[in-house]
Amino acid sequence: MQYSIKCSKDLSNNDIELILKSWEIEDWLDLDSSSFKMKFENSEFHFLKKDDRIVSLARINFDFKLEIQENLHSFAELVGLVSVEKTKGYGSFLLNKMVTNLKEREIDTIGFCKLELRPIYERNDIQILYGKGIFITEFDNNKWIDSDDDDILIINTSEENINILQSLNEQNKAILV
Ligand SMILES: CC(C)(COP(=O)(O)OP(=O)(O)OC[C@H]1O[C@@H](n2cnc3c(N)ncnc32)[C@H](O)[C@@H]1OP(=O)(O)O)[C@@H](O)C(=O)NCCC(=O)NCCS
Repeated sequence: MQYSIKCSKDLSNNDIELILKSWEIEDWLDLDSSSFKMKFENSEFHFLKKDDRIVSLARINFDFKLEIQENLHSFAELVGLVSVEKTKGYGSFLLNKMVTNLKEREIDTIGFCKLELRPIYERNDIQILYGKGIFITEFDNNKWIDSDDDDILIINTSEENINILQSLNEQNKAILV
């Protein structure tokens, strides 16, 4: 198995095609390579390959800021984890490689997940702030929209930031900037 990282400008057309197909986000399916690279210019892509075929992938988004109690916090965000071939252990393998890599590079990283996907993170010993994802909110189209993710995932996060995220509640929401 090979683990590799590419910044968006180094992605091949085939990489982009596979990423878009795997993510299954309708609005993005028609993105051409240059639009994709521009849209994700502040992201890097982590791949797991087997026999030169990508079997699992994820994105680290460096364009992610939360305002909490009037303070701005920058995190890297783990997003778009998807296995091309599911339930073969590839997602777990990639996740562990990514955690090690982000720790080595001292990149403060969080992620989010819905209730039904907790098991994959629990199984891989990722600390979960249960029920805290719903306190992330965003102002979009003239209204506040709460996140539909249930939990916050502690991928590599300082104790100080874990405590700040742990303190989120209905009266103390994090605003996605
Ligand atoms: C979530 C996902 C990336 C997991 O990848 P994977 O390669 O299938 O995962 P693994 O084979 O390493 O599975 C590890 C554990 O995760 C759990 N798991 C995997 N897929 C799951 C799913 N769809 N729902 C609930 N639990 C799941 C299982 O507990 C599994 O443990 P087991 O092998 O003891 O049954 C994959 O199912 C996927 O691509 N899903 C669609 C995209 C998605 O929802 N991404 C998550 C964003 S938070």
